[in-house]
Amino acid sequence: MHVDVVSIFPEYFAPLDLSLIGRARASGTLRLAVHDLRAWTHDVHRTVDDTPYGGGPGMVMRPEPWGEALDALAPPGGTPPRLLVPTPAGVPFSQALAHELASESHLLFACGRYEGIDQRVLDHAASRMPVTEVSLGDYVLFGGEVAVLVILEAVTRLLPGVLGNVGSLDDESHAHGLLEAPMYTKPAAWRDREVPAVLRSGDHGKIARWRRNEALVRTVARRPDMIAALAPESLDPRDRAV
Ligand code: ADE
Repeated sequence: MHVDVVSIFPEYFAPLDLSLIGRARASGTLRLAVHDLRAWTHDVHRTVDDTPYGGGPGMVMRPEPWGEALDALAPPGGTPPRLLVPTPAGVPFSQALAHELASESHLLFACGRYEGIDQRVLDHAASRMPVTEVSLGDYVLFGGEVAVLVILEAVTRLLPGVLGNVGSLDDESHAHGLLEAPMYTKPAAWRDREVPAVLRSGDHGKIARWRRNEALVRTVARRPDMIAALAPESLDPRDRAV
């Protein structure tokens, strides 16, 4: 997968050299390039923002540098990337959207700062490439950089070959519309707390049932919205008893 990121703070992306994302980059699974938006400014102050039309606090990112950046990274006439713009006004980011993005060959992230990017940039881009404004959640960050780190991590771990144990993609929270059951490792007893006996029983049927029950109990307590969204046919009679 090819990923371009445009930001006025390219230094934010230094952690993408670390850990499994760093390894995905080193192996060529993830080809990532971070670009400084100010490279597409032409004045001595390298200006990227201005006051909002209509008034109000804060600054808005001017369209000209963004237009040039998008023309350079998604040349008209070429195969267009999918443009992603993190903003609290976007569609909610989710595991389903992460899967969708993991199947794309080229993602282009535009990191806004201040009160966001002049809307004409996104409207113009949408005339020649798919554009998704995406939100991490109902809170406001300083800008899109941290959101891009989150989205890229969620997407990269879904790319083929990035996770050693593919089975772990199957059970994790959100994979089946439920939160994941609690997990334990050795030692079997620690500070007077024991690992649940069923997990040490070797009975895989019982273990699967126990994990399913724990996942249901947790999801009911923490995420009733996820329970409400479950398809009725995804529940069996033993689930209903929980
Ligand atoms: N930029 C500022 N706040 C954001 C949020 N909640 N999600 C994505 N991008 C953002």
